[in-house]
Amino acid sequence: MILVTGGTGFVGPKIVHALRATGGEVRVLARLEVPGPARPDAEPLLAELPAGAGVILLTGGTGFVGGHVVHALRARDYAVRALVREPAKAAKLESWGVELARGDMTDAESLRRALEGCDVVVHLVAIRQGKEEAFERIMIRGTRELVAAAKDAGVRRFVHMSALGTGEDTKDLVPYYRGKWEMEQTVNGAGIEHVVFRPSFVFGRDGGILPTFRKLARIAPVTPIIGSGRQRIQPIWADDVAAYFAEAIDKPEAANRTFELGGPDAVTWNEFWARLKRVLGLRRPSVHVPVGLMRANALVTERLPGNIPLTRDLLTMLEHGDNVVTNDDAENTFALPLVPLDEQLRRAA
Ligand SMILES: NC(=O)c1ccc[n+]([C@@H]2O[C@H](COP(=O)([O-])OP(=O)(O)OC[C@H]3O[C@@H](n4cnc5c(N)ncnc54)[C@H](OP(=O)(O)O)[C@@H]3O)[C@@H](O)[C@H]2O)c1
Repeated sequence: MILVTGGTGFVGPKIVHALRATGGEVRVLARLEVPGPARPDAEPLLAELPAGAGVILLTGGTGFVGGHVVHALRARDYAVRALVREPAKAAKLESWGVELARGDMTDAESLRRALEGCDVVVHLVAIRQGKEEAFERIMIRGTRELVAAAKDAGVRRFVHMSALGTGEDTKDLVPYYRGKWEMEQTVNGAGIEHVVFRPSFVFGRDGGILPTFRKLARIAPVTPIIGSGRQRIQPIWADDVAAYFAEAIDKPEAANRTFELGGPDAVTWNEFWARLKRVLGLRRPSVHVPVGLMRANALVTERLPGNIPLTRDLLTMLEHGDNVVTNDDAENTFALPLVPLDEQLRRAA
C-alpha cells in the first residue's frame, strides 16, 4: 500500500492515477473523508475544454473493471464522463476527475443527453444474473440505443467490452452469451469505427471472482473444484485490461477489430487452485465436486441476496470448454506488458 500525501492537490491526482494504472494500491491522506473533485482548480471542467478536445463517455464506470479503466484513461489525460445510475453513489469517480452524467441503459433519452459533446464511447455495462428479459432490455436493447445515439452524436470510435466465450456457437447457451453476441453484432454493424475486446476472467484485488476464490481457499477445509478441473482459463489482471482499453482509444491499427484478451498464463482449474493455495501458504486438499451437485447448490445460491457468483448459468459456461485466447492478435497489435498469474495471485492475496 502506498500512502500519498498531497493527493488532492495539483500534481497529486496525476501521481495517484499513474500508480493505480500500474497496479499500485494507493491511500490518499485527505482532510475530508470523501474529497471533492480531485483538483478543482487544475482539472479543466469538461465544459471549458476546447471544441473537439474529445470527451469519452464511459458506461459501467462504477463497476469493478470500470474503476481500473477510469485510472488508465485519466493517467493518459483523457477527459472522461461516466454514465451513472445514482450519482450519489459515484463520489469516488468524481474525486478522480470524472464528470458524471445521470442515466440508465434502459432510458434512451438519458443516453442521448450523456453523449452530447462526446467523441468516443467506452461501453462496459453488462449483467450476469437476472431474468432473460433483463439481459434483453439492458444489454441488447440498451446497446442498440447507445450505438444509435453515438452515431447521431458523431462519435468517432466505440470501444466495446465483450467476453471470451462469446460466439455464434455459444449464443444460445445462456442469456449472458446471447446478450454479448447481440451486442457485438450491433457494434460491428453500426458503421462507427470500433474496437471489441473479449477478455477471459478478469482478476483484481477489488472485484471479479478472485476475491471469492481467495475467501473460499482460506475458510473451506477442502477446496471444491467444479467437475474434472481440466478446463483451462487465462486470467488477466484488471489493470492490464484497462491498459488495452486506454490504448484502443486512438490506435489506428486496432480499428474495426475484435481482440481476445488473456494473461501470460493459461492454466487448468486444478492448476489454478494449486497455485492460489501455494501463494496463500495453504496446504488444504481439493475435492472434485460433480457439476450436477454444484447445480443443486447454485439453485439455492441464485435465490440468496448479495449476487453470489455461483449460478447455474456460470456452471453451464464453465462446463462448455476452455476459456483461453486462440490467437496472438492483441499481443502483436498492442505489445503491452502483462502481469503473470502468480504475481496476480500475490497482489490479490
Ligand atoms: N469481471 C470479469 O471477470 C469479466 C470477464 C470478461 C468480461 N467482463 C465484462 O466486463 C464488463 C464489466 O464487468 P465488471 O466485472 O466490472 O461488472 P460489474 O462490477 O458488475 O459492473 C457492472 C456495471 O454496469 C452498470 N450497470 C448495470 N446495469 C446498468 C444499467 N441498466 N444502466 C447503466 N449501468 C448499468 C453497473 O452500474 P451500478 O453501479 O449502477 O450497478 C456497473 O457500473 C462487463 O461487460 C463484463 O461482461 C468481465
